[in-house]
Amino acid sequence: MEFKNLKVETTNRIAVVTINRPEALNALNEQTLDELQSFFSDANDNDGVQVVIVTGSGKKAFVAGADIVAMQQLTALEARKFSRLGHQLMRSIETCAKPVIAAVNGFALGGGCELALSCDIRIASENARFSQPEVNLGVIPGFGGTQRLSRLIGKGRALELLFTGDMIDAAEAYQMALVNRVVPQEKLLETAVEMATKIVNKGPYAVRQVKEAVRTGLEMDLDKANQYETEMFGLCFASLDQKEGMLAFLEKRPAVFVGQ
Ligand code: HXC
Repeated sequence: MEFKNLKVETTNRIAVVTINRPEALNALNEQTLDELQSFFSDANDNDGVQVVIVTGSGKKAFVAGADIVAMQQLTALEARKFSRLGHQLMRSIETCAKPVIAAVNGFALGGGCELALSCDIRIASENARFSQPEVNLGVIPGFGGTQRLSRLIGKGRALELLFTGDMIDAAEAYQMALVNRVVPQEKLLETAVEMATKIVNKGPYAVRQVKEAVRTGLEMDLDKANQYETEMFGLCFASLDQKEGMLAFLEKRPAVFVGQ
C-alpha cells in the first residue's frame, strides 16, 4: 500500500508504521487517520504481519495531537465526524487481532496520547512527554482519552491530567503505569523490535486469543470473564498451534507454529 503520511516497513512479520508529518510534529489530520485505518484493516487480516509497532518520524514527536489547523474552523457536526473517525481508528487498533506496540519517541499529546493509549503496550524514549492538553484549547479529548486514560491509570490520576493539561515526562508516565518501559531514544525501536520478536515466535493463534480474552474480559464482570476465558482455553485445543506447541515440548524441540 502507498501512503502519503505513513511509512511502513515489514520485516520478519513485524510491521513498523511511522507517522510521517514532521512539519506538524506528526499531528493527525483526516488523511492520516484514514491511512492508519487502511493500514490496520490490512494488518488485521494479513498473515504476513504478526505484530505492529507504531512510532513517529523524527526525534521530537510521536504525535503532537490532532491537527489544530484542520480542527480550528470545524462546525459542531464536522467536529463530531472527526472525533468519530478517530474513535473508529483507535478501536480498530484496540481490537486488531495482532499485538500493537507504541514506540513513543517524543511528544504524545492529545490525540497522540490517545493513539498510544489504544495500543496494547507503550515503550517510551527518555525524552517522551505525555499530556491531554485539550482544556488549553477549550475542548475535551475526542479520540477516547477521557475513557482509556482513566481505565489505564485510574480515575484520580486521569482527572488530574485531564483537568490541568499538565505535561508529564517519561519517568512520571512510567510511575503511573502509563508506559511499560522507558529507554534511551537510540534504543527505542530496537527495544520495541526485540519485544515484537519475542511475541512473533509464540503461537500466533494463542497470542490473538490472549489479546481478545484480556480486552473482552475487562469489559465483563469477573464470573462472565472467567467463563469466557474457559471457553477460549477450550477453543485453543481446536488449533494446530496447540497440538504443535505441546508435541514440540514433549519432543524437546522448538515449536513450529502455523497460526491456526
Ligand atoms: C497542528 C501542530 C501541532 C498540532 C505542533 N504543530 N502541534 N500543528 N496540530 N497538534 C506544528 C506547529 O504549529 C509548528 O508549525 C510545528 O508543528 C512545530 O511546532 P512548534 O510549536 O514550533 O514546536 P515547539 O515550540 O517545540 O513546541 C512543541 C509542542 C507544541 C509543545 C508540541 O507544538 C504544542 O503545544 N503543540 C500542540 C499540542 C496540542 O495542543 N495537542 C493537542 C491537540 S487537540 P509551524 O508551521 O509554526 O512551524 C487534540 C484533540 C484530539 O489532539 C481529539 C480530536 C477529536
